[in-house]
Amino acid sequence: MAKIGTDLGLAEKLLKTGKQVAIPTETVYGLAANALDATAVAGIFEIKQRPHFDPLIVHLHNKDQLQRYCKNIPEIFEQLYQAFCPGPITFILPKKDSIPDLVTSGQPTVGVRFPRHPLTRSLLLKLQLPLAAPSANPFGYVSPTTAHHVDEQLGEKVSYILDGGSSAVGLESTIIDLTQPQPKILRLGGLSLEEIEKLIGKVEVTAHSSSNPKAPGMLSAHYSPGRKLLIGDVEKLISENRKAGTAVISFSKQYSTEVENHILSTKGDLTEAASKLFKVLRLLDRDDVKLIIAERFPDEGLGRAINDRLARAAAT
Ligand code: TXA
Ligand code: MG
Repeated sequence: MAKIGTDLGLAEKLLKTGKQVAIPTETVYGLAANALDATAVAGIFEIKQRPHFDPLIVHLHNKDQLQRYCKNIPEIFEQLYQAFCPGPITFILPKKDSIPDLVTSGQPTVGVRFPRHPLTRSLLLKLQLPLAAPSANPFGYVSPTTAHHVDEQLGEKVSYILDGGSSAVGLESTIIDLTQPQPKILRLGGLSLEEIEKLIGKVEVTAHSSSNPKAPGMLSAHYSPGRKLLIGDVEKLISENRKAGTAVISFSKQYSTEVENHILSTKGDLTEAASKLFKVLRLLDRDDVKLIIAERFPDEGLGRAINDRLARAAAT
């Protein structure tokens, strides 16, 4: 078990001396290290068992120091920053040499994000350092949304877990590539496509694929809940799998009293559903669960990102 608490001074000291600390964000918990210290960053890859071709996101308190780490920042960044930061959006920008190649897997671009969680904002302000942080889960597994989730899987390996309660959004940040004249969404996430398009107009969403060189880590098989998962017509799938060990994840409807049914939002609110998805996927990673059946969510708002995560969980 790792030490868990809210000691910002301790987290600061550990990070300044090259250690890895789990931090709360509004999206999911991150496994952080000083982004300017390649040895500390190497420790993140080691702890997560993450392949080196999968680049990390760099977290900053605000945009004041952005020029130190990125170049050719387009005007559209300013617009998105003013509207959504701090918040669940990551910007892909051309990087400067100050960011070690290990952070970006040798790519000339870096993902930068300004997280909204108050505890992590205080930490970033105290540190005055950029923090490289992927989600704090073993590679390929569901992301953690509580300090306890981190402790269960990585507790032995991290120096400290900063406990900021449950992540409010519960899905990873939306990633937008600003390195080309036309912005592109590389990962659907905690900020909806509609909100972004309301501000900057139609945006292309590129398909997630392991062969997509712009998003090397976005493998189709990811977010594994450790169980077989089927998505589709729930009634039909239940009738075909009416046996012990079948569990259902639905948006707002109770399908069956015969099987374990997890409803993500009884009032039909996609934001509430998003915040619960990863908790339920983890809950169902139990020996007595043999099959998870999930409903397809409405393809709007955070429903798109929920469908994306479910599809990738089903692909494993
Ligand atoms: O909400 C989040 O984004 C969380 C919290 C902790 O901030 N972080 C997170 O990190 O989800 P991670 O490492 O699990 O996912 C980051 C994704 C990876 O799939 C990676 O491929 C992509 O971001 N990425 C990072 N840098 C990139 C770059 N320069 N170009 C393209 N994709 C990049
Ligand atoms: Mg991740």
